[in-house]
Amino acid sequence: MAILVTGGAGYIGSHTIIELQKAGMEVVVVDNLSNSSRESLNRVEKITGKPVKFYKVDIKDAAGLSEVFEKEEIDSCIHFAGLKAVGESVEKPLEYYTNNISGSLVLFDVMRKHNVKNIVFSSSATVYGTPAFVPITEECPKGEITNPYGQTKGMLEQILIDIQKADPEWNVIVLRYFNPIGAHKSGTIGENPNGIPNNLMPYITQVAVGKLQSLGIFGNDYDTPDGTGVRDYIHVVDLAIGHVNAINKINEKPGLKIYNLGTGKGYSVLDIVKSFEEASGVKIPYVIKPRRAGDIATCYSDATRAKEELGWVATRDLHEMCEDSWRWQKSNPQGY
Ligand code: NAD
Ligand code: UD1
Repeated sequence: MAILVTGGAGYIGSHTIIELQKAGMEVVVVDNLSNSSRESLNRVEKITGKPVKFYKVDIKDAAGLSEVFEKEEIDSCIHFAGLKAVGESVEKPLEYYTNNISGSLVLFDVMRKHNVKNIVFSSSATVYGTPAFVPITEECPKGEITNPYGQTKGMLEQILIDIQKADPEWNVIVLRYFNPIGAHKSGTIGENPNGIPNNLMPYITQVAVGKLQSLGIFGNDYDTPDGTGVRDYIHVVDLAIGHVNAINKINEKPGLKIYNLGTGKGYSVLDIVKSFEEASGVKIPYVIKPRRAGDIATCYSDATRAKEELGWVATRDLHEMCEDSWRWQKSNPQGY
């Protein structure tokens, strides 16, 4: 039996396939390559020495997806496919809702028609909005979400909760990721954003490699130890391993479960700059800019539930995250 990995050619998907294959699991990938390339999967194959079954299919295409379910013996799905750029989602809400919501509805329906009712869904700490408290447990109420991308995460969580409630044969695991950074140790796969990066670590690595001149730090007047924003950065390989644990859990038929995947530690923007400089030996020039709309001061997880119920803990520290992000960027200055 195989796991269908939607969006498997992307950043988190490609790292997750490696860990699934290492754990002896079969994978089938569907991706429309709208934000990725087949090359990432070629590199995954080189790393694991195993072929990756790949279908270039859009999740909005019910007939295309059905064909995959008919050809392959699929018993569960890890659903990464989606558009994820916050700023772009504000400019193009219709495209984001269509791709992420309509696409997911097609996927869930095709799964149901093929009697595949096990799903692990990629959600985000963004659903907590301005968190009611930190560290954030899964009991923290969902907050006001300020952009369409985040809305799609909140809505899809609710849709899956309703589907599972109506038909308890469904097993749904919602994983709320904190801030994934880092890359596989080989330096051959990693995050490959289109255009100028929105997220902190790819911006820093592109400054380091000389593609961008200096980092803009969005605000140094937050109520945090050094005034810059604090986040819970998690190594993408730790995150990937979390999905192996989630699939093991889903085989126990848990019904509905929600887990934070984070380290439980908060680091500021200046901490990240310093740690990156130490890990890479490259100085990162920066300028302080005004706050970015929609940003919050502090966001970090309490990941106790994932530890207790999934047996999962993040083990890679910030230094390793920076080293690995840098190895990927310097070996692939133009991405794939
Ligand atoms: P990514 O863009 O690298 O990967 C997403 C993949 O989905 C891409 O390969 C893209 O081509 C594919 N895709 C998009 N729309 C599709 C469609 N309609 N049909 C088929 N394939 C489609 O992003 P990522 O960072 O690997 O994120 C994976 C998932 O995790 C996303 O759902 C994202 O929203 C979520 N997430 C990411 C982060 C993060 O910081 N990277 C944080 C929280 C949640
Ligand atoms: C962002 C998204 C969030 C999404 C997450 C994962 C926003 C408001 N939030 O989270 O919805 O789930 O990415 O992809 O976009 N920073 C700088 N300079 C930069 C870039 C970032 O100072 O050039 C700061 C930010 O202000 C923040 C921290 O670095 O304090 C992390 O930013 P980022 O990597 O964009 O992640 P989030 O904002 O936490």
